[in-house]
Amino acid sequence: MYSDKVLEHFTNPRNVGEIPDADGIGKVGNPVCGDVMFIYIKVKDDIITDIKFKTLGCGAAIATSSMITEMAKGKTLEEARKISRGDVAEALEGLPPQKMHCSNLAADGLKAAIEDYENKKKQQT
Ligand code: FES
Repeated sequence: MYSDKVLEHFTNPRNVGEIPDADGIGKVGNPVCGDVMFIYIKVKDDIITDIKFKTLGCGAAIATSSMITEMAKGKTLEEARKISRGDVAEALEGLPPQKMHCSNLAADGLKAAIEDYENKKKQQT
């Protein structure tokens, strides 16, 4: 039911944890199941230099979080913002249809972290 890539990211998730001095933090909840995800980013010159996640959720949510951190690291904020739930699912070689909603968490979490960073930056100027 799950692709090898999903299982691999689930059993060996990348970039798990917290960034204590994060520049932006995104917290999103999935209304379908109640699962929660936090994404932390460090930003320098508009590039995501570090990213970590904590996910209280299902295997698909953990695999999609892990994958999106790999996809976003080193990207500009503009590029990272464009990563869609479909892109994440595709990079994981597909998700079962009943699990597609889980990939929303990762894409929305990353966008929320970028927004948080931008709001904080505006407040400083
Ligand atoms: Fe909740 Fe997958 S079942 S995110």
